[in-house]
Amino acid sequence: MEETRTQAEHHRKIRLGVNIDHVATLRNARSGEHPNILSAAEIACSNGADSITVHLREDRRHIRDKDVSCLLEAGFRVNLEMAATEEMISIAEHLRPHSVCLVPEKREEQTTEGGLDLLVDKERLKTSVARLRECGAEVAMFIEADAIQIEAAKQLGAQAVELHTGSYAIAEGEEKQQRLQQLRVAARSADSCGIFCHAGHGLDFANVESVARIPEVIELNIGYFLVAQALFDSLGAVVARMKSLMLAARGAGD
Ligand code: PXP
Repeated sequence: MEETRTQAEHHRKIRLGVNIDHVATLRNARSGEHPNILSAAEIACSNGADSITVHLREDRRHIRDKDVSCLLEAGFRVNLEMAATEEMISIAEHLRPHSVCLVPEKREEQTTEGGLDLLVDKERLKTSVARLRECGAEVAMFIEADAIQIEAAKQLGAQAVELHTGSYAIAEGEEKQQRLQQLRVAARSADSCGIFCHAGHGLDFANVESVARIPEVIELNIGYFLVAQALFDSLGAVVARMKSLMLAARGAGD
């Protein structure tokens, strides 16, 4: 079927949610406010980010409750990643982020390890989605690229799914192509179910384009790589400025 003009325009649009959790990781390594997460959000948004994503973890290892409220008060569009626990749902009801992505959470994990299993504990998930929607959030569910999970997300009342791209990101060779194909098929089935399709996890300069080319994917959430790469893109300039301040303090020119 030939794409209509509106469909083609819709398919060209893709949003970037910048996850700034690891700016907070750095900030928390010392007890001050540097690097400031509002400044990071400002830089991200003035360079093309469409929203700021933060994962408020049960152990508050990076983002803290106050960060979420400050980002909202400062007017950023906030996508809150969180587990579907009573504590987090109450926080979301109070803070009212623009969108929520429900994720599985294990205390010991380094990062979100897999998608939610939406076939387990359905009633609790359904109530969580309803409560979040009630407070005005668009609700996504972070899942593996699997048609059964997509259908379940729809049944549970979510408006979007976020496909976990982690296993695609780390796969190599033929397996990478298979993982990519699973993402393509899943994105298509989300679209035909009538729910929005987002994707994220482990994306970087080398692997983002194949995912961004999937027409039904309307949003990517990317964090770790951006924060890590920012070091290499700017470390030279920062070191040079420090050395020049030191030399100037000794009366030497640049
Ligand atoms: N999407 C979800 C649901 C996540 O949990 C994360 C990690 O916090 C990301 C996207 C971003 O992953 P990464 O930091 O690897 O880019």
